[in-house]
Amino acid sequence: MDRLRVAGGVPLLGSVAVSGSKNAALPIMAASILADGPCTLAGLPAVTDVETMAQLLEALGLDVQQTGGNTLCIATVDPCPTTAPYELVQRMRASFCVLGPLLARRGRAVVSLPGGCNIGTRPVDLHLEGLAALGAVIRLDRGYVVAEAPRLRGATIDLRGPMGSTVTGTANVMAAACLAEGTTVIRGAAAEPEIVDLGHFLISAGARIDGLGTDAIEIRGVESLYGTQHRVIPDRIEAGTLLLAAAIATGTVSVEGARADHLTSVLEALAEAGVDVARGDDRITVHASDGPKAIDVIARPYPGIPTDLQAQFMALLSLADGSSTICDDVFPKRFLHAAELRRLGARIEQRAGTARVDGVYRLSGAKVVATDLRSGAALVLAGLAARGETIVGGLEHLDRGYDDLAAKLAALGANIQRESPALDAASALDSTTGIIPLRARSASEGLGVTTPKTLARASG
Ligand code: UD1
Repeated sequence: MDRLRVAGGVPLLGSVAVSGSKNAALPIMAASILADGPCTLAGLPAVTDVETMAQLLEALGLDVQQTGGNTLCIATVDPCPTTAPYELVQRMRASFCVLGPLLARRGRAVVSLPGGCNIGTRPVDLHLEGLAALGAVIRLDRGYVVAEAPRLRGATIDLRGPMGSTVTGTANVMAAACLAEGTTVIRGAAAEPEIVDLGHFLISAGARIDGLGTDAIEIRGVESLYGTQHRVIPDRIEAGTLLLAAAIATGTVSVEGARADHLTSVLEALAEAGVDVARGDDRITVHASDGPKAIDVIARPYPGIPTDLQAQFMALLSLADGSSTICDDVFPKRFLHAAELRRLGARIEQRAGTARVDGVYRLSGAKVVATDLRSGAALVLAGLAARGETIVGGLEHLDRGYDDLAAKLAALGANIQRESPALDAASALDSTTGIIPLRARSASEGLGVTTPKTLARASG
């Protein structure tokens, strides 16, 4: 099991480039199922969730070729299976984004109920209600959703649940509605930049969509979509994580390619916490010389502070001068990281959906384990500021969504190393046998899309 070894107390300095957005990439890759021709997607992040989606698309009969460092070309080939297998879907909740496209394009979709990050109950009822409103007949069969419709029909659908809209639910219904007969109106649609990016991809493939970025999206169905080319937007969560890293470790860091317009409430919160923030044309720069001030944070749907940055804010506020409160209106029970932050000396109390964080003068290094993707990032950030050494395990979570976070932080001067005990043991063995070991995938080497099929083609 890989782990990160972080020696805290080093200020960060320099520039780092943001990768493409994971949460935009995944539904866009899934929506490639809708197109008759090949879709070339550029700027994809080298994260294991992208690999998983590529494997899932191959299992669904698509041809996935890596045509550049961060570019995939995805094309439908015959035959066209309609079953998304449990083994792949349970690895990542966003796999469920193939449901709408499969149903709309192939008339039938059999998709395992999803797995993914351990951040509380995550239902899919709104996805299913939305697709049913488009005329799909849906049943559950031994852990699989079976959805069928010879041709979907446009309808007016409300995707607001008890916690607001659903991001991937909006992706599923919007993608499916592109090939429906007639007009679909999604009320209570998610306005997240990743949904806008999916919409732009679909429009470039011939879809007719209005209202992107608002809570009412109108889709006029077309007979078919064609192949297209698209570059995914920069990852606002990765950018926010890097900015928060500079805030907690202190120093001056520019995140190149980051979009300030996607991070308005995050930048406002950082400024409120006493961090200097400068918005450039194609970069955001932060400067922090002291510990942060206490602030209250409420994670909300866009344009609020994203729930995917709530854990990283908790790490920062653990060192604040004073007491902060943190609520998560999207996933109210998403506080598993609090227990691990406490191991580093943070003082966090949870009561009825609110975490109260009493800032401490310093954190101390310890062994901790990531419980989900963003908690992993929060622990790394806390390690950057802690006295002594922090060892972060559970890196499989971090790898799902961060494109080599450790290398990016190291490039900014952080004292952080990735260790692969299993690999080190294998190397020692190989020096005696002469067999060259498989190397761990480094995200900087590309997308790592090496499904058996892709490998076979490459070697054949
Ligand atoms: C997406 C993001 C994830 C982010 C989340 C919230 C991707 C791949 N993942 O997840 O990183 O944390 O948005 O910004 O883009 N809900 C229902 N019924 C449903 C679906 C959701 O009640 O059918 C509820 C959820 O329990 C939650 C809220 O709606 O309280 C938002 O969830 P949702 O937007 O669906 O999250 P995801 O799309 O899974």
